[in-house]
Amino acid sequence: MQLFIDTAKVDEIRTAADWGILDGVTTNPTHIAATGRPFEDVLREIFSIVDGPISVETVSLDAEGIVAEGRAIARFHPNAVVKVPVMIEGLKAVKRLSTENIRTNVTLCFSATQAFLAAKAGATYISPFIHRKELAGDDGMVFVRQIRAIYDRYGYKTKILAASIRTVKEVLDCLLAGADVCTMPFDMLQALYKHSMTDAGLAMFLDDWKKVPPAKLFTEAHAGVH
Ligand code: E4P
Repeated sequence: MQLFIDTAKVDEIRTAADWGILDGVTTNPTHIAATGRPFEDVLREIFSIVDGPISVETVSLDAEGIVAEGRAIARFHPNAVVKVPVMIEGLKAVKRLSTENIRTNVTLCFSATQAFLAAKAGATYISPFIHRKELAGDDGMVFVRQIRAIYDRYGYKTKILAASIRTVKEVLDCLLAGADVCTMPFDMLQALYKHSMTDAGLAMFLDDWKKVPPAKLFTEAHAGVH
């Protein structure tokens, strides 16, 4: 499963990219607004940090406008993916953009039938919103499993990009449900590494290491001796 970061904050993107596990980025109008910076400047910086799919969202409500914005986003950088809300005008635009070989990410998906329509329109990615779905009293994982089953049964190539992730358990569930990609905020990426028993075990090992006489193998390694 690929890991994307869901933010437009370049310091967070840079840090996560440095960990070596980041495959791409998803942004949305809320993330762009939170940076307080000009749209194009933020995008230029993100594209310079991550060499992978980067979703940039359209804001028009009619197919013509979405297609125009989508073409502009695609021209901006070869790694750009055009993020389009799931609605009739949005899916009309996705169909047109896909015939122009422009990659799309259909967002704000809250039902498996919406995911089915996005696949029919030729979407590259579908973004089911897991945590927001849970907050509404639904089971986010049943939702991902339904989409997986539909895509597998009918051979749709659209990738499932699980979004709106707030807990480590939701990430684990996405892995088990067969999501292709999971996008999450920086603090969630960090949380995937954390376990209190790892911290305790490491503290114990390092404490015991103090009882070992100075190790030439390591002192030479730190000094750059080959
Ligand atoms: C995904 O692409 C969205 O940007 C994101 O996950 C939004 O969901 P949230 O605001 O619930 O995190």
